[in-house]
Amino acid sequence: MSTGTDVVKPAQEGNGWEPNILAFCCNWCSYAGADLAGVSRFQYPPTVKILRVMCSSRVEPAFILKALREGADGVLIAGCHIGDCHYIDGNKNAQIRINNTKKALVKLGLDKRLRLEWISASEGLRFSEVIKDFTEEIKKLGKNPVNEPQIMAPRVTPLEGVSTHAPQGKRVRGVENPQGFGNDERRLIASANKSAANVQGSE
Ligand code: FES
Repeated sequence: MSTGTDVVKPAQEGNGWEPNILAFCCNWCSYAGADLAGVSRFQYPPTVKILRVMCSSRVEPAFILKALREGADGVLIAGCHIGDCHYIDGNKNAQIRINNTKKALVKLGLDKRLRLEWISASEGLRFSEVIKDFTEEIKKLGKNPVNEPQIMAPRVTPLEGVSTHAPQGKRVRGVENPQGFGNDERRLIASANKSAANVQGSE
């Protein structure tokens, strides 16, 4: 019986652990590719939950951190091939932003859990292969260590309807961080967002 504090080691044969992968798929290519994989009955493991976004550039570093923080063992961002983005350069900006996020995740030891792929609407087979390959990679890494209580400090979430400010305007102890991110994660978000802003501003 699990005590909730068990450390799951990298997948070993027979332990039955399957990773949780969150895939952000752009509406115009990769989501259609996932759909085609289903219609074509290309097999892939049921480890992936798909979230449709309008463009890969819609995925902010904070989304990735939130997913990793809240149970994802891997995060996949899938968009149109370079040159095919419905919003012209959205995927180029996404590439720079995700690469910067990946670099920043090195500090947290989570960089291998983030992957960016280009999958077109006609690449159902490629979608299934990417999912299979990423699943195997995450299995080798094992469960996301962020979920292990001995590594992460307890999360403090403000109660609904309760202000995070004391009546005199002072911060209430313990709820300074309503989103549940630590200082390292906040710095990471800031640096990845700044890089993305610089890229957009220089074009
Ligand atoms: S619309 Fe697909 S990546 Fe931009």
